[in-house]
Amino acid sequence: MKPIFIPLNLSSLFLLIVTLLVAGESAPIYSPTYNITLNCGFSGDKVSAYDFQTWTGDINSKFFPEAVGGTSQVGNAPPSSSLGSYVPFTTARLSHSEFTYRFPVSPGQKFIRLYFFPATYNADFDSSKSLFSVKAGGYTLLKDFNASLGRIYYNSETLLTEFCLNFEPDQRSLNITFTPSQGGYAFINGIEIMSMPTNLYHSAAQGDGASYLGSSDSRYLVKNNTALQMIYRINVGGNPVSPNEDTGMYRTWDPPDEFFLDDRSKNLSISRRYNTHLNFARIFNYTAPEEVYRTGRTMGGNSTINKSYNLTWRFPVDPDFSYLVRLHFCEIDPNITAAKDRMFQIFIANFTAEPQADIIHWTTENGIGNGIPIYRDYFVPMLNLGTQKKGSVNISVALQAYQDDYLTRYNDAILNGLEIFKLNDTDGNLGGPIPELPNITPKVASESSRNSKKKSIPMLAILAGVVSVLLVVSVVGFLLFRRGRKVKDSNSSKATKWGPYSFSTTKSTKSRGSSLPSDLCRHFSLAEIKAATQNFNDVFIIGVGGFGNVYKGYVDDGSTPVAIKRLKPESSQGAREFKTEIEMLSQLRHLHLVSLVGYCTEQGEMILVYDYMARGTLRDHLYRTENPPLPWEQRLQICIGAARGLHYLHTGAKRMIIHRDVKSTNILLDEKWVAKVSDFGLSKMGTTTLSKTHISTVVKGSFGYLDPEYYRRQQLTEKSDVYSFGVVLCEVLCARPALIRTAEKKQMSLAEWTKTSHRNGTINQIIDPNLRGKIAATCLNKFVELALSCMNDNGSERPSMNDVVWGLEFALQLQQSAEAMLYSNVEKEGEDEVALMKGNDAGMSCSWEYSSDSKNSRTTKTSSDEQISTTNESMKGMSGTIFSEIKDPTVR
Ligand SMILES: *[C@@H]1O[C@H](CO)[C@@H](O)[C@H](O)[C@H]1NC(C)=O
Ligand SMILES: *[C@@H]1O[C@H](CO)[C@@H](O)[C@H](O)[C@H]1NC(C)=O
Ligand SMILES: *[C@@H]1O[C@H](CO)[C@@H](O)[C@H](O)[C@H]1NC(C)=O
Ligand SMILES: *[C@@H]1O[C@H](CO)[C@@H](O)[C@H](O)[C@H]1NC(C)=O
Ligand SMILES: *[C@@H]1O[C@H](CO)[C@@H](O)[C@H](O)[C@H]1NC(C)=O
Ligand SMILES: *[C@@H]1O[C@H](CO)[C@@H](O)[C@H](O)[C@H]1NC(C)=O
Ligand SMILES: *[C@@H]1O[C@H](CO)[C@@H](O)[C@H](O)[C@H]1NC(C)=O
Ligand SMILES: *[C@@H]1O[C@H](CO)[C@@H](O)[C@H](O)[C@H]1NC(C)=O
Ligand SMILES: *[C@@H]1O[C@H](CO)[C@@H](O)[C@H](O)[C@H]1NC(C)=O
Repeated sequence: MKPIFIPLNLSSLFLLIVTLLVAGESAPIYSPTYNITLNCGFSGDKVSAYDFQTWTGDINSKFFPEAVGGTSQVGNAPPSSSLGSYVPFTTARLSHSEFTYRFPVSPGQKFIRLYFFPATYNADFDSSKSLFSVKAGGYTLLKDFNASLGRIYYNSETLLTEFCLNFEPDQRSLNITFTPSQGGYAFINGIEIMSMPTNLYHSAAQGDGASYLGSSDSRYLVKNNTALQMIYRINVGGNPVSPNEDTGMYRTWDPPDEFFLDDRSKNLSISRRYNTHLNFARIFNYTAPEEVYRTGRTMGGNSTINKSYNLTWRFPVDPDFSYLVRLHFCEIDPNITAAKDRMFQIFIANFTAEPQADIIHWTTENGIGNGIPIYRDYFVPMLNLGTQKKGSVNISVALQAYQDDYLTRYNDAILNGLEIFKLNDTDGNLGGPIPELPNITPKVASESSRNSKKKSIPMLAILAGVVSVLLVVSVVGFLLFRRGRKVKDSNSSKATKWGPYSFSTTKSTKSRGSSLPSDLCRHFSLAEIKAATQNFNDVFIIGVGGFGNVYKGYVDDGSTPVAIKRLKPESSQGAREFKTEIEMLSQLRHLHLVSLVGYCTEQGEMILVYDYMARGTLRDHLYRTENPPLPWEQRLQICIGAARGLHYLHTGAKRMIIHRDVKSTNILLDEKWVAKVSDFGLSKMGTTTLSKTHISTVVKGSFGYLDPEYYRRQQLTEKSDVYSFGVVLCEVLCARPALIRTAEKKQMSLAEWTKTSHRNGTINQIIDPNLRGKIAATCLNKFVELALSCMNDNGSERPSMNDVVWGLEFALQLQQSAEAMLYSNVEKEGEDEVALMKGNDAGMSCSWEYSSDSKNSRTTKTSSDEQISTTNESMKGMSGTIFSEIKDPTVR
């Protein structure tokens, strides 16, 4: 019998993908009827790895801008910048004189998004000197705008400002004019114009409009002649949502709400996520992504404490404008199902906005039922605050639990999402006051250029988690592009692309490296930790490693399981560095990293508290285990997740973080099988704080995973992680340890054994018997090729983690296409084009006798865990409930 693995032919793959595209369940809820994505300073079309849209260059296009009194120039983003590969930030149009883009428009409300990447494009255009205004459709969108000022505040490299404008039927064209201010120049990287659902933010003539704050019972209509500027759009209590996870409008829900909480709220409130089934009975299902409603922030579990504080956020805004505040609610707690169960009060800008907020009452007829999303709009005039300081003012949103127990069952409050828009003033102006140009500008500029040399991509949000099959494959050719992934970066304020520059003014005087990160990470008292672990009772130990023991415990009145890692005690010097390191680690928040919840440094203890990962380590599901074998697709998903986590470590943080101990026991799985990389940062810490006792040699890592180049040259690069990850890929494929000391010499090292088998064409013989016949040939080839390239002897020839993510996703596509093809062909009675074999293949024998070999499994018990240094422990944990789930990628 001929081997049944036959290469998939590309045109059928294309057809399949088109089918998937049409039938895919992840089709966006809203499809724009009008959209323009213009890549300024670029020529030709290019798909953006940032939002997966096709961006059209303005050069040689009908949208080429008209310049007045000079010509505009084109600039490429500095090559040192790691944003180089993300359209539309790669190129810019710059000019010392005015230029205008002209677009045909259809009637109705539209998003207009302006993308800026402030950088020094060439000697004529020093990034600190950009200063300009932008006018469109009769409104001043930005006034004396300096994009790099925005960067100071946001700590992000790029800036996106979003506006909502209405076009009347007689308005056939839109002119967007960039006018440099005295002595400055104007620039723009990208312009996006997209239709939106009618009256999404503007009011319907017959509608209710927004409640007028401070003027009881009156309503305010956001008229069509008013332009809105998005200032905040936040998935409260949850992770940021990236543009292509939105409902089709490419909105970004970012940054995390923690940044805006006051101290008490930060310490006491709890973010929640439930998998409640949502029923869009009250609002349109495109209003906000489900993830926004599935997550929220509540006050906590203790009603006495809840009554003692207001859950309060403060959002800096420009004074002398009016704002539209939209609060999104959904009762998601399965225990709260009836009206009056959870009633609370809402204050906005010190006015009572809701004396009796009761989500279930708002959403149901009979007062029974939950999971029904709703939002409420408030008109908040921040006018005539004349006596206030010049800079920004705050819009506060405060939730108060009822003080009297008889009024409600749970003295608690919840908020799921929030949007704040600025409304134009009576002159049609949206630009804030002229920002006081802070004298720290040069410093910041130099610091940021240094940062970019260090390859940080703080701003780009990684699309965490979800393999958006649809978007990924929307153009087959696109698969051939090297694709960067968005860094879904919920950490420190380098949150992607949002908001205006203007509220930067007061904050900008604050130094960088502000207190934000440390605030993000909760400090536990030793008493709390002891209570959670019954004074470090051994029965709670779930892992033991070189750094110390790992305990499972519950915090927050027993409501939240956590993994508590108690490091072996060290000097006080160590403790201080420990704290610095923790602050750095606590900024790293990503779907595919195990989140650090908090820490404790009391009485010389060094304790780290992590989210608990219910399904333990990846290895627990590969070999020497009672767990059932994982299906191939799931293994791919896990690899993709872990690769994203590592990619984020390498590029997403302020400085590159090299894990140094990538292995299958450091990849954990939450209850929904989402892969999370753990123990990052600790190995670095090891060299500074724990070196005396634990490290026998400077080379760190685990045998079997160790990059030979690193070993030889003792020079650490991120490519060492890539190497180790390659070994993990082999482990996943072959379900055997990275090192088996007792095995035959040529089989001892999995890396070598895989290389040899590949050379000899016997790779089929070493794969996990459970997978035999279940991997499409194309997928297997891609996977093996990728694993081998990761393990290239020469670090510089190994792919980046980003390439690895891409390669794995491609492999997954190949597998899914082949399977889908198989099913369709089974119905059509077997055309021969299927690259997949189901069931056993007699022609393929297996020489890798793993599980039946009792000698092997007994004697190799500890070998692969051998460490040169000490970062091993298999920490089991649980998913943070706030994380989003992995969508089922198998679109059929
Ligand atoms: C935008 O329009 C183009 C055609 O002009 C279409 O191919 C593309 O899918 C649209 N994008 C979105 C997000 O709908
Ligand atoms: C846009 O500018 C052109 C001239 O460049 C002008 O003819 C046209 O009326 C303007 N459109 C609008 C809507 O202002
Ligand atoms: C604004 O325009 C939309 C149609 O584009 C219409 O449905 C709505 O009623 C208008 N709003 C007001 C306040 O007139
Ligand atoms: C959204 O709602 C519309 C009707 O309002 C419905 O046709 C559509 O299927 C819904 N989409 C999703 C993804 O639920
Ligand atoms: C709630 O907190 C108060 C004050 O800290 C404490 O006295 C009380 O025991 C707590 N209640 C519960 C049920 O934990
Ligand atoms: C919450 O805020 C409101 C309005 O500012 C105030 O009246 C109330 O006393 C506050 N409640 C607590 C518990 O601080
Ligand atoms: C619901 O309430 C029960 C009983 O108080 C409790 O055991 C359970 O944990 C609660 N469920 C959630 C999701 O809070
Ligand atoms: C709200 O009250 C707080 C303290 O009572 C004050 O600092 C703040 O300025 C007030 N905000 C507004 C918008 O009046
Ligand atoms: C926004 O500007 C338009 C045109 O200048 C004006 O008619 C409208 O009243 C302004 N909106 C507000 C809220 O002042």
